Amino acid sequence: MTKAIILSGGYGTRLRPLSCNVPKSLMPIVNKPVMERQILLLKSAGVKEIVLAVSVMGDIVKNYFKDGSHLGVRIHYTEEKHPLGTAGAIKIAEPYLREENFFMLNGDVIFNCDLNKMLQFHTTKKGIGTIAGKVVNDPSRYGVLIENEDTHQLLEFLEKDEYFPPNGKIVPMPINAGVYILEPEIFTYIEPHKKVSIEKQVFPIVVKKEQLYHYQISGVWKDIGKPYDLLEGNIILMVDIMKNLKGDVKNLIDHSADIHPSSKIYSPCTIGENVVIRGNSTIGPNVIIGDNVFIDNNVELRDCVIYNESYISSNVKIEKAIIADNCHIQKNVILKGNNENLVILASYVEVLKNLEILAPKTISLTVCHHEVLKESMK
Ligand code: GTP
Repeated sequence: MTKAIILSGGYGTRLRPLSCNVPKSLMPIVNKPVMERQILLLKSAGVKEIVLAVSVMGDIVKNYFKDGSHLGVRIHYTEEKHPLGTAGAIKIAEPYLREENFFMLNGDVIFNCDLNKMLQFHTTKKGIGTIAGKVVNDPSRYGVLIENEDTHQLLEFLEKDEYFPPNGKIVPMPINAGVYILEPEIFTYIEPHKKVSIEKQVFPIVVKKEQLYHYQISGVWKDIGKPYDLLEGNIILMVDIMKNLKGDVKNLIDHSADIHPSSKIYSPCTIGENVVIRGNSTIGPNVIIGDNVFIDNNVELRDCVIYNESYISSNVKIEKAIIADNCHIQKNVILKGNNENLVILASYVEVLKNLEILAPKTISLTVCHHEVLKESMK
């Protein structure tokens, strides 16, 4: 198999405001867009041509990936004026994909399974499709896969509101990981020129025809649908990257970073290119810093992602937060989330000095791009 399609045209509403001006598929995961990581994984499995199904903010995706030659693959684009749904999106890519089976990925999942093993499984089962499933402790947020445990044929494909755990007790279950292998026959199940969901309108029919199989994946898997997933996904992948490097690697620090010796880095952390960290700062654990970020004296960072080009002034504390690119945090500021509720600053936000910005107990605190915060929020 040499082809794949990646879906990158959704609105990404749950990831707002981060996804207001950057498509979800370009969200950085350990300083590389999630979809770039997918493209590199597909390439390592032998895929040479990839269709990116874009719609919302499609031009930003096209500008980033261009024809794919810098990544060593050939990229084509299909474009929906308005999102056509997860099946409608692949239907318009039929001319590229009608000759042989192909991988289909949701452009918002972090994973690192062996795609060739999945293909071997698919080839032996001879179904129309194979769905990668990941066993998670709480399946209630995802589409759940019910299989025949001997043959791995899918008996039911249940969307999140359709699955009710037996006796109301939540148990680990395989969920739809957003990674598929499909035969061109799938296109006969999708009506053209219509908004169609593959999960709701196509897979249930293919299940009834006994033509859909489940392949259980292991290793890293995370969908970055919500901000906390984005933070967690960054941390999980960072730890996995280090685990797979030679030696006892504790942090991923670019050689160009300029870190004052009096500052301490608590593992695991990632520090990108040309980052400056002045004196007496405490960075980590669980911190991912992009490129060209400036961090002044006495700064404390933990459990956070800081995108490129941001400026963090002295005596700032940041915990449980995502700070998008080009933000400016003035001195003596505290930005603090709690549990799964984060402080989220979209691009180009400025936080004036001496403010305390604390996420409430039940919801993340979000600030839209280019806003200037002038008052504390607690
Ligand atoms: P939410 O609005 O937060 O649910 O996000 P989303 O719109 O991205 O939807 P979802 O998370 O279910 O999408 C999974 C993947 O499919 C993402 O990579 C989306 O970009 C992509 N996707 C969803 N709907 C469409 C669509 O209509 N067209 C295309 N081309 N891609 C889509």
